[in-house]
Amino acid sequence: MSAQTRLAVLVSGSGTNLQALLDAIAADPDFGGEVVVVASDRASAQGLERARDAGVPAVAIELGDHLDRAAWEQALVAALLEHRPDAVVLAGFMRLVTGAFLSHWPDRVVNTHPSLLPAFRGAHAVRDALEYGVKVTGSTVHLVDEKVDHGPVIAQRAVEIREDDDEDSLHERIKAVEHELFPHCVRLLCQGRLTVDGRHVRVS
Ligand code: GAR
Repeated sequence: MSAQTRLAVLVSGSGTNLQALLDAIAADPDFGGEVVVVASDRASAQGLERARDAGVPAVAIELGDHLDRAAWEQALVAALLEHRPDAVVLAGFMRLVTGAFLSHWPDRVVNTHPSLLPAFRGAHAVRDALEYGVKVTGSTVHLVDEKVDHGPVIAQRAVEIREDDDEDSLHERIKAVEHELFPHCVRLLCQGRLTVDGRHVRVS
């Protein structure tokens, strides 16, 4: 890895986690990483605008423009490789990536998920936690493997569910936690402080 870890960020939506990461990098000369490209499966993702505003190359690779899912993923990998990233971070990226994708960055793909994994995997984690009636949920940052929301956990933080929460209010409080935890974990990765031992991620 180069002195500065080159990060690719994938987004599908508003990109507040991307923004938190960009802000954390800008505020910390010792962060050890830089965002070299932001890519999205949606051309309209607000996260792409955030990237452009920060002077970072932003690309949209839409599934509908490709023959099938495999061709789409290949195009996504090719677009990322142009920027030679050392690691990839998924910041609200709402599509699955396969082993073919992961093989380019072994143990170097990180995801932020809005629940305390392994509870409430999938695309509706906040809604599912509310519907289940749990009293505590939270934020998990983890390495990505071939199973959905399954890879080794880097860090987790709990968020209490209130009687009057709806999906939006709960997701806002989870995001407030993610905005600290996610950049923190990416910083550890950039500084080479994560060691993966089976399902266990050790932080030095
Ligand atoms: C975040 O809460 C992230 O954890 C979640 O999408 C949100 C994106 O927000 N990701 C998933 O649910 C992945 N399964 P953002 O676009 O404002 O960063």
